[in-house]
This record gives sequence, structure tokens and C-alpha cells, in this order.
Amino acid sequence: MTDLDLKTGTAHPGVSGGWRTPDRLYRLISSPVLRMVLGWDLPRRDLRVISRRPGSVCLEVGSGGGFYTTALKTHLGAENTLIALDPSPSAMRALRHQLDAVPGARMSCVAGDGCKLPLADDRADTLFYGYSLEEMPDPLAAIREAHRVLRPGGELVLFLWRPVFTRRRRRPVVALLDELFERRRTSAGPQNIRLVYRKR
Ligand SMILES: C[S@@+](CC[C@H](N)C(=O)[O-])C[C@H]1O[C@@H](n2cnc3c(N)ncnc32)[C@H](O)[C@@H]1O
Repeated sequence: MTDLDLKTGTAHPGVSGGWRTPDRLYRLISSPVLRMVLGWDLPRRDLRVISRRPGSVCLEVGSGGGFYTTALKTHLGAENTLIALDPSPSAMRALRHQLDAVPGARMSCVAGDGCKLPLADDRADTLFYGYSLEEMPDPLAAIREAHRVLRPGGELVLFLWRPVFTRRRRRPVVALLDELFERRRTSAGPQNIRLVYRKR
């Protein structure tokens, strides 16, 4: 655990609503080879968009089985802090064990809800969502939370899975992102959209 003022005592009842990737499907799509073929996902390469500054705090919202978390821990390095957050306490316990021996950032694994982040205002330097925003019950509330906890000048990095996050669902989300943040980078492939924003 870090010295951050994480509100870990907060109860997080089961999060419902939104699209939820079935567990069996998630296990399948967690295969690095399949993810590379299907989504052109290569964690070490994909995470290069995340800036590193010593002493920074990065929150990964919806870390799941840790497909990106290992590479993110290494990418950030020992001078930084990484908080992995997902609703399932058992998934977070498993992730903590899995990452214990991985060199890199100081780590906390926290069970929580992306629509109600357990961080104080302006506390995070970077927020990363790897195909998780589309699963949140209220993505607009999640974006407002991201805006609240990110410090001015902080970075918001989102990978969105197109087949799930259809144009109709995406439109109000991207409109709110563009209203609250300054867009720095966009890339779109057949399966995914990658967005980098900065908080003004
Ligand atoms: C498709 S998985 C992606 C997981 C991981 N980032 C990856 O790339 O493999 C979506 C993740 O979003 C998480 N999620 C769903 N609702 C959430 C919420 N309200 N708050 C935080 N995470 C949530 C799910 O538990 C799941 O781990």
C-alpha cells in the first residue's frame, strides 16, 4: 500500500450495468497472442504513450487480469506509483500476487468502482483505461470522476474496444471528454480507438 489517501474502507457493492465481458471470453482474450492478432494489442508498445515523470501517480482503472498492468509497472519504473483498480476484490488479490516479483513502480491493487474513484481531487498524474470504460455502468460519471482525480496538466489515456463501444454509445462519451479535457492524440484501428487527453 502506498501513502496515498486511498479510501479503501469504502464499501463497493457489485457494479452492474454496461457491457460485461463474460469471464470465459475474458480468459480467452487475455491471451497475448490472440490480443495481438485481434486487436493489435502489444502492451509494451501501446503504453509508450504514457509519460513518466519521477514521483508520479498512475491509476489504471479496470485492470482486470492485468493484461496491461505488468507492462505498466515496468514502464513507470521504481520512482513512480501505480494503483490498479477493478471491482473484484479476488481479482485484485490475485493481481497483487502476480505482480509482486515484477520490477517497477510501487504498487497498490484496490477493489473499487471507476464511477466512484477512491482518490482525492487532483491526486493522480495519469489515468489509464484499457478497454474498461465501455464496461462501466455509467461511463459519463466515470469521466467526471477521472476529471476530478486528475491533477491539472495530468494525462488521461483510453483504449476503447470498438465492437462493444459502438458509435452511438461512444458519441456522448467522446463529446464529454472533448469538453472537459484537451485532446492530444487519437489513433483508430479496425478494433480499437486510442485517445490521449490532458486536463487543462
Ligand atoms: C475487457 S476487461 C479489460 C481488462 C484489462 N484492462 C485488459 O485489457 O485485459 C474490462 C475490465 O473493466 C472492469 N470494470 C467493469 N466495470 C468497472 C467499474 N465500474 N470500475 C472499474 N472497472 C470496471 C472489469 O472488471 C474488467 O476487468
